[in-house]
Amino acid sequence: MDRYKGELLSANTRRFLAQPKRMLIGGEWQDAAGGGTLDVVDPASTQVFARVPAGEAADIDRAVAAARKAFEQGEWPKMRPVDRERLLLRLADLVEANAQELAEIEALDNGKPVTMARAVDLALMVDFLRYMAGWATKIEGATMDVSVPLVRDREFFGFTRREPVGVVGAIIPWNFPLLMAAWKAGPALASGCTMVLKPAEETPLSALRFAELVLEAGYPAGVFNVVTGHGHTAGAALASHTGIEKVAFTGSTEIGKLVGKAALDNMTRVSLELGGKSPVIVLDDADPAVAAAGAAQAIFFNQGQVCCAGSRLYVHKSRFERVVEGLSEIAAGMKLGAGIDPATQIGPLVSAAQQQRVLGYIRSGFDQGARALAGGAAGEGEGYFVKPTVLVDTRDDMKVVREEIFGPVVVAMPYDDLDEVARRANDTPYGLGASIWSNDLSRVHRLVPKIKAGTVWVNCHNILDASMPFGGYKQSGIGREMGRAVLDLYTESKSVIMAL
Ligand code: NAI
Ligand code: MG
Repeated sequence: MDRYKGELLSANTRRFLAQPKRMLIGGEWQDAAGGGTLDVVDPASTQVFARVPAGEAADIDRAVAAARKAFEQGEWPKMRPVDRERLLLRLADLVEANAQELAEIEALDNGKPVTMARAVDLALMVDFLRYMAGWATKIEGATMDVSVPLVRDREFFGFTRREPVGVVGAIIPWNFPLLMAAWKAGPALASGCTMVLKPAEETPLSALRFAELVLEAGYPAGVFNVVTGHGHTAGAALASHTGIEKVAFTGSTEIGKLVGKAALDNMTRVSLELGGKSPVIVLDDADPAVAAAGAAQAIFFNQGQVCCAGSRLYVHKSRFERVVEGLSEIAAGMKLGAGIDPATQIGPLVSAAQQQRVLGYIRSGFDQGARALAGGAAGEGEGYFVKPTVLVDTRDDMKVVREEIFGPVVVAMPYDDLDEVARRANDTPYGLGASIWSNDLSRVHRLVPKIKAGTVWVNCHNILDASMPFGGYKQSGIGREMGRAVLDLYTESKSVIMAL
């Protein structure tokens, strides 16, 4: 614990870490009913530095009941849209005012570089909350000129309303803990839903600090609840709960399928944002240095623990050597270190399990004949580090080419022509993101419709914006978050037909 009292942490973060951690249920800070706790591990040192309640089914029941009550009674259901907008803007201001502390908590808990947490996670989160605040006053239905054939002597008037879907259960992963909380809370709070958030067991801390800010912003008790706990207990109880109307899940495709099935049993609305194996496609006119830097950012950002990480690099054979050399040089030069150190470029992976998983994939690549031009091993010393790794000499049927590794590991492959690369890029069960590197407008435009992915970037990768819908084709998920599209996930449409 002592190292966290050092100069790298602001006074506010130290204050937060020193407090006992409780869950927010019905506006009150509560321990788990069963009394259990979860250890929170710093992945840079492997030390336990905090404990949070290990919430279980009974705690989910309490939180869902509180969210239900807040949805149906009291101030919240009567609140004017403009007041929901004002609250969400106030919350965004509070997140912004506390951005350094939140970034430090994120860096300690997840391992990510604090500079990136501040510049990406927190910045996107504040923008997104403000963007969603604007939607609170713009949720609208339509009026219809109906032509009812049966009763021609009567006049009818038809209109639609969009109503909040109800109580939302949000289950989120550990790679962007706060940002994923915001992706769920933003539309839920803008549209008048209430919610229960279940953060990942690896990274529960920032959700608890965020919950403090939600209270400070002035949200009525029970509108926003947080239950920390394991996936197979608290998470499973939330996904299968009959007291919620919607599940919003981000995480692995494997668990996403379980969550989707549990939700369907109750006909609970469900949106799933799942895994990926996103291609980076470099055309023969691309500047090799630009492509190498872009490919590095595509895979090494957030230690490669990004659902849309560019983990398969396809380079036209005329540029393959130069791009892959440039990428390997960048990889070999990146500074590994603790996330809270501002000099760090690559932090540790989130957990021992994730480090072992990623190293296992690298080994399987070697066993099947791949070669590492950079990395290929754990980082030195304590902490769950994996060196940024560039693999070549792969075949398209290898595990490292087919499966989501979720670490700083890219497979680089040459190709001959555009039809071939489009086919290989799509030869995956996933379809979350893809990037194309070229200044040849015509060829880029011809390639974009061929790529089966929810987002296609051109001359960039991993660029997200509050206004742009994000989500997956195929096994990368169901539904689109952000943008106007997310409102469809958090509202129901009601048709009203009046005989005049
Ligand atoms: P996970 O999918 O198990 O965890 C995500 C969330 O689901 C966490 O909050 C967890 O507590 C919860 N959860 C787990 N089991 C559950 C269940 N039975 N019912 C309801 N909720 C449950 O992901 P995990 O185990 O942390 O990582 C495993 C692999 O999944 C990673 O190596 C990576 O490949 C992939 N992954 C992908 C993510 C993405 O954004 N695409 C995010 C996290 C993991
Ligand atoms: Mg899991």
